[in-house]
Amino acid sequence: MTQLILSRRAERIGLAPNAAAKARAQALAASGRSIIELTAGEPDFDTPASIKQAAIDALAAGDTKYTPPAGTADLRAAIRDKLARENGLDYAAERIIVGSGGKHVIYNAFAATLREGDEVIVPAPYWQSFPAMVSINDGTPVTVASRPEDGYKLTPARLDAAITPRTRWLILNTPSNPSGAVYGTGELAALADVLRRHPHVWVLLDEIYEHIRFDGGAREHFLRIAPDLAGRTLIVNGASKPYAMTGWRIGYGAGPVELIRAMTVVQSQSTSSPSSIGQAALAAALRGDQAFVASSVAAYRERRDLLLDAFAKIDGVRCVPPQGAFFAFVDVSALIGATTPAGETIASDIDLVAYLLFEHGLAVVDGTSFGTPDHIRFSMVASNATLAEGVARLAAGVAALRRAQREAA
Ligand SMILES: Cc1ncc(COP(=O)(O)O)c(C=O)c1O
Repeated sequence: MTQLILSRRAERIGLAPNAAAKARAQALAASGRSIIELTAGEPDFDTPASIKQAAIDALAAGDTKYTPPAGTADLRAAIRDKLARENGLDYAAERIIVGSGGKHVIYNAFAATLREGDEVIVPAPYWQSFPAMVSINDGTPVTVASRPEDGYKLTPARLDAAITPRTRWLILNTPSNPSGAVYGTGELAALADVLRRHPHVWVLLDEIYEHIRFDGGAREHFLRIAPDLAGRTLIVNGASKPYAMTGWRIGYGAGPVELIRAMTVVQSQSTSSPSSIGQAALAAALRGDQAFVASSVAAYRERRDLLLDAFAKIDGVRCVPPQGAFFAFVDVSALIGATTPAGETIASDIDLVAYLLFEHGLAVVDGTSFGTPDHIRFSMVASNATLAEGVARLAAGVAALRRAQREAA
């Protein structure tokens, strides 16, 4: 066989850890083991029927051709209305681009702007695709750690310290995957103050979990708090999370016209345009009844509370209550160094994840892959019964560990 030589960019990245964790769990399940699988990052609900119908109607109407590279005029008008209605922002169609998922929009932004060695600040814990997409596009991810005491949020001082003349972007993901952190008005204002002192830094504002929040009240948009930063901010959002449309692959970005133009060129030479049918579906979703969003958020909130109640009863785990998204990020530092019944040492969160999977049939994702060791991530996209069984397995797994400190106590 002729040797396959990989590009330098392909060499820099690996398979998303979530996908790897899921594949490992599925392989075990296929071998007959009972596995509670809490690694997923997509809603477990089906796409609402009215949205599916809009796609069927689009097909029937012959909406089956290439669209303009930045997306259809109709969808961009619907996005414009959404940004005005929900966020109080005014974005003309030429400042909006539709991509094949929010992920693709982020990818296009980096592909269009990064040069070798450019730095992108990635606050940890982070969605693993952020640093990977920076790296594949020749940039250098600069990770900034956070503390549970700060709710896993980036502080102004840490942001300031991370900025260099090579910094091109700051990624701000609120609500955050994996921590569920949601930045408040004061916190965003304080970060904006730092950014004003560094006019060369752009902001990639990932709001893909915008609607999945548990604090109820309305939130002021970052660009209403700091409208002067609109000229260097890219908003990213999409269909996947609010409308349970992960497989449709439709997301969008809104930003300064020069950036959107550059991203459109990149897109026109790669995917040409996003799917015509998916675009028709998202337009219908944005214009339609939003009851599905409210009911799914109510379900996530119930699941979050179920998990938090259960975690509170397990000695050795701590969880800052997630304010949004559908994950619980659990601090397991008290378990590092413990010994399993087989006499093996849990030296890291990665060891803990393997122990929980192989010995207790619970699949979760290690915090190390989110840039934050000593944690594990629970996904909440499963039924109450599955989640209850998952935390029961966690409790059993933790109870079976021998811990020096606990025994001394
Ligand atoms: C933080 C974050 N941003 C963006 C995305 C991208 O979602 P999609 O490409 O399905 O729109 C995800 C998906 O997991 C995510 O967790």
